[in-house]
Amino acid sequence: MVKVKSKWVCQQCGYETPGYLGKCPDCSSWGTLTEEITAREAKNSSPKLNKLSDSPPQLLGDITLDESIRYKTGMTELDNVLGGGLVKGSLVLIGGDPGIGKSTISLQASGTLAKTGLKTLYASSEESGSQIKMRSERLGVDSENLYIQAETNIEEIQMGIDATSPDVVVIDSIQAVYSMNISSSTGSVSQVRECCSILMNLAKCKGITIILISHVTKDGVIAGPKVLEHMVDTVLYFEGDRYKSYRILRTMKNRFGSTNEIGIFNMENTGLTEVSNPSELFLSERTDAVTPGSVVIAVTEGARPILAEIQALVGATPYPSPRRVATGIGYNRVLQILAVLEKRVGLNLSKQDVYVNAVGGINTQEPSADLGVALAVATCARNVTVDPATVIIGEIGLSGEIRRVSSIEQKINEAQKLGFKKVIIPSSNLPVKNKPKNIEVIGVSRLIDAISKSITG
Ligand SMILES: Nc1ncnc2c1ncn2[C@@H]1O[C@H](COP(=O)(O)OP(=O)(O)OP(=O)(O)O)[C@@H](O)[C@H]1O
Ligand SMILES: [Mg+2]
Repeated sequence: MVKVKSKWVCQQCGYETPGYLGKCPDCSSWGTLTEEITAREAKNSSPKLNKLSDSPPQLLGDITLDESIRYKTGMTELDNVLGGGLVKGSLVLIGGDPGIGKSTISLQASGTLAKTGLKTLYASSEESGSQIKMRSERLGVDSENLYIQAETNIEEIQMGIDATSPDVVVIDSIQAVYSMNISSSTGSVSQVRECCSILMNLAKCKGITIILISHVTKDGVIAGPKVLEHMVDTVLYFEGDRYKSYRILRTMKNRFGSTNEIGIFNMENTGLTEVSNPSELFLSERTDAVTPGSVVIAVTEGARPILAEIQALVGATPYPSPRRVATGIGYNRVLQILAVLEKRVGLNLSKQDVYVNAVGGINTQEPSADLGVALAVATCARNVTVDPATVIIGEIGLSGEIRRVSSIEQKINEAQKLGFKKVIIPSSNLPVKNKPKNIEVIGVSRLIDAISKSITG
C-alpha cells in the first residue's frame, strides 16, 4: 500500500516543511504555506536532469554559431521584446492577467511561425480543440504545420511532442498541466516546478523552443515558485488596462536580449495588431480646446519615447484632510511634487483636493514626467493654461531645481514628429545634439521659471 505523506509548501517561494507554519522562514510571507499530499513512492521520482549535450568540454573558439538560431514570429513588436526573435531551444514564459490576450498572442505567433515552415505544437490545457479552432478562425490563423493538442497531462504532451517533433511548442498554461509523478494537485508549486523541469529538459536536449503561458497572482507576479522564473530564459509580462484596447508586453528577464524593450499592441476583433506609433494612441483623444490643468509630457518606455497627456484637477476640499489621487503616475511622486510646489513656488494646496491622471491608461514611473505634473497642477490651481503645442520634460528636485533627464534627443524628435512647436526641457540637457529645425527648445533650471515660461494666459 502506498503510504500517504503530506508536506507544507510555500506557494510564493517553494519552501517545504513537514508541518504548518504561519510565516514562511525563507521568503517571510504570511499565510502562503499550503498542504500538499505526496505519495511516498513519488519521492525522488522526478526524472534526473538530462545532460544539456553529449559532447565533452569544448573550447569556446571551436563552438560554431548556428545562423538560424532565432525564429522570427512575424510580429515586429514581439520580436523586439524577445531581443530579435525566439531563440532556438529557449524557454519563454508569458505571464498576465486573465483575459489580457496571452492565448491570442501565442496562437497568432504560432500561426506565423508555422507559416514560415516551422512545425509548431499548440498544447492547450484550458481550451478544447474546437474552442481553439474558433479562435484561430477569428484570428485568421491557418497553417498545415500547426498542430493542436488539448491535453492537461504533461506526459501525454511529451508523447505528442515525440510524435510530431515540432520546432516550437506552446503550453497554455503551465498552471493547468500536471505530471503523474507528483500526487499534489494541479497548479501547486510542486506540480508547476516538475512540469517546468520536464519541459526545460526537452527544450535544452532537443533544441525545441517552448513558450509557457502562466497565470499571475492577485499581486501581479507570476503564480508559482520564484524558481520558475529562474528556470526559464525569458520572462515576459503582458499587461494593459482591462477597459482599454491596447496591451503592453514587457520583458522582466531575458538571457538573449535587453530587458528595456516593450511591445505595444492593440486588441481588435481580428486579434492583436502592432502599434508602431504609441504617442498617437495616447494623444488620440486630446481636444484642441485649451484647458487649465492639461499638459503633454514625454517619457521613455523601454527604449522608445512616448508622448502622453497629464490632466490635473484642483478644487476646494469638503473633507477635513484634502484628498490626493494619482492615476497612471506614482502616488508618492505626486505627493513630493505637491510639496515642492507649496514650498518653492508658494502654491497653497493645503485646503485643496488634487487629482492627477495620466490620460489613455499609460502608467509611467519616469521622473521626466515630474515637470508636466507640476505644471498641470499649478495651471489648474491658478486657472491659466499651457500652450497646447508645447511638450513639457523635466525631473524636479526637492529644492525646486529642474534636473537632467535621459534620452532627450529622442523625446524632442518624437514631439517634432507629432507636430508640436515647442519643448521645455532642463537647461542642464542643453545644448541638444541634432535638434530638429522646426521646433523651439527652451531650457529651464528652476520650477518657478518653468511655470512662467510655459503659461499662456
Ligand atoms: N470576438 C472577440 N472580439 C474581440 N475581442 C475578443 C473577442 N474574443 C475575445 N476577445 C478579446 O480577447 C481577450 C481574451 O484573450 P485570451 O483568451 O487570449 O486571453 P488570455 O490571457 O489567454 O486569458 P486566460 O488567462 O483566461 O486564458 C478578451 O478579453 C477580449 O479582449
Ligand atoms: Mg488563455
